[in-house]
Amino acid sequence: MSLVYRHARAQDLATADGLVVASINDLTARHGFGPMAAPSPPNFQLFSLKDDPDGLWIAEDGDNLYGFSWSWVCGDLWFLAQLFVDPAQQGRGMGNELLRLGFEHARKSGANYKALITFSFNCVSQGLYIRHGLFPKMPIYFFDATRERVTEGLPEPPLRSVPLDDDAASMERLAEIDSRAIGIPRKKHHRYLLNDPATTGVLLYAGSECVGYSYIGSKGHIGPLAVKEANVLGDAFMTAVTIAAGGSSEKISAFLPGNCENALSLAVDHGMRITFPMLLMASPGYGTWTRYLPRNPGFM
Ligand SMILES: CC(C)(COP(=O)(O)OP(=O)(O)OC[C@H]1O[C@@H](n2cnc3c(N)ncnc32)[C@H](O)[C@@H]1OP(=O)(O)O)[C@@H](O)C(=O)NCCC(=O)NCCS
Repeated sequence: MSLVYRHARAQDLATADGLVVASINDLTARHGFGPMAAPSPPNFQLFSLKDDPDGLWIAEDGDNLYGFSWSWVCGDLWFLAQLFVDPAQQGRGMGNELLRLGFEHARKSGANYKALITFSFNCVSQGLYIRHGLFPKMPIYFFDATRERVTEGLPEPPLRSVPLDDDAASMERLAEIDSRAIGIPRKKHHRYLLNDPATTGVLLYAGSECVGYSYIGSKGHIGPLAVKEANVLGDAFMTAVTIAAGGSSEKISAFLPGNCENALSLAVDHGMRITFPMLLMASPGYGTWTRYLPRNPGFM
């Protein structure tokens, strides 16, 4: 048999998720973090495949799936959601070739900027991305804590939250907030989140002014969260924390970028702890988030 690169199909996605989980756990165990990932239904992968099949690639040899890459595009931004190679096959050029195919997707889509979130302790991925013109921009820390710990001494929510709808007016608001926070509107991704029964979305208001939005998952995970102005990010984060604390999950968690100083201080002050360091890498001209908390390294 010989190695073949081809577009992924819907029936590949569960196997690809298994490969991704094995590759993450191999990496995190080697670096002393223990296994971090568990399999999950590939819902967002399937959504991306239906939206734009050009962004998902497989490397396989016969029945063996050895590599998977998945990128999505919104407006001017190409985002590499996943690039993973079977641990036993790493260092043989597959990551390089899958990345080249992803870049072809970016070129065809006309995206000007490229970005991704990788593990800050993985020299191989960072070296590979730098070789391809994507540079380290800022750390992103995964924080978590028990809900019980976070709930101690929690203030009243600083902002008013209103459940989010997918009507045209809300979509326009979200597009405006995203354009300011991350430079691109992401209407299709908001529709995806609003259809996810495990996620609640809210618009955030200071008085009568809509200043941002947040999503809170049923497992206590906050994000994506975005605001129009950096000076309300801390208030928006605390409001999302109070919503998560009012739920029934055991834990509360969020990804906090290094440039979001208020949110970082608030997280630490409320007992949250860094459990996993990650890194935003991007092409020149992109990658300073002061108004945005990503959902995870794949969704951004
Ligand atoms: C990162 C990953 C996808 C790369 O795939 P791969 O098939 O192992 O990579 P390749 O063999 O194509 O290329 C590796 C390149 O990394 C670079 N590299 C490796 N170690 C490096 C180091 N210490 N410093 C700088 N560059 C380094 C080199 O450019 C190397 O290419 P070369 O050997 O031709 O010089 C794969 O190792 C993997 O799945 N790792 C675990 C999960 C992960 O971190 N994925 C990225 C998530 S965003």
